[in-house]
Amino acid sequence: MESGYQKLPEESMRTEWNEKKIEANSDYLHVEGHPVMEKWETPYMDRLAQIACGNGGVVLEVGLGMAISATAIQRCKPDKHLIIELNEKVIEQHKQFLADHPSIQILQGDWRDVIDQLEDNSLDGVLYDTYPMSAAEQHTHQFSFIEKVKAKLRPNGILTYCNLTSLGVLFGRYLTKDDIAEKTWETIWNETQKPHLLSVGWKEDEIEGFEVFKLPEVSIKVRGNCLYYSHSTCLVPKLIKKF
Ligand SMILES: C[S@@+](CC[C@H](N)C(=O)[O-])C[C@H]1O[C@@H](n2cnc3c(N)ncnc32)[C@H](O)[C@@H]1O
Repeated sequence: MESGYQKLPEESMRTEWNEKKIEANSDYLHVEGHPVMEKWETPYMDRLAQIACGNGGVVLEVGLGMAISATAIQRCKPDKHLIIELNEKVIEQHKQFLADHPSIQILQGDWRDVIDQLEDNSLDGVLYDTYPMSAAEQHTHQFSFIEKVKAKLRPNGILTYCNLTSLGVLFGRYLTKDDIAEKTWETIWNETQKPHLLSVGWKEDEIEGFEVFKLPEVSIKVRGNCLYYSHSTCLVPKLIKKF
């Protein structure tokens, strides 16, 4: 049986996602029944935030979710923290957090509609973590964003991204018989990530590669029966704009 999330619809949810109802508590966020985010990801989000904040300065985050990575980014004290979020109820849910952190500026909308508001060469770091809007884009939605955001990054600007709804499936599919996570991730990277990164305009020299993040035992224990991710390691990609 395939691992990971298999219940994305054929038809895109994009046009209605902004007003879809949410179910949220301190452990998870569901949007219209979709398992969008869970708290066990916290240590992984911390690592992605550290990468995105490596230059300080102006950091763009896409996908507010449970504000876990936003909290981690705030700990890094960026000069400015822009967050693009599509769902209005998700933003409402974090009203107090946003009010308490004045370096955050929320840009409400689909990143596709909002990204042109950002100046070229203005971002020092980017963390992209949204949710696929259909089965067709489960494994690839991040690449359209990664193409578009390149012009917005300054030279030496850092980009990292997360798509566990895809990687939960891919890791199960690519897992080698000897079960060595690093080898599996290398194959996944070389076959399903790097070719897309090259095809959307990033150069070989800019694709630093990836880290394999090992989830702490406690995260695995509290995760229980997560519908989208059941593995003990996660991918941390790193790209640095040079050209
Ligand atoms: C996986 S959650 C983000 C989790 C977040 N990193 C955290 O640590 O809590 C994905 C978020 O992206 C938002 N989202 C999905 N598609 C989007 C889009 N096209 N533009 C902006 N936000 C989007 C969802 O509403 C959701 O809040």
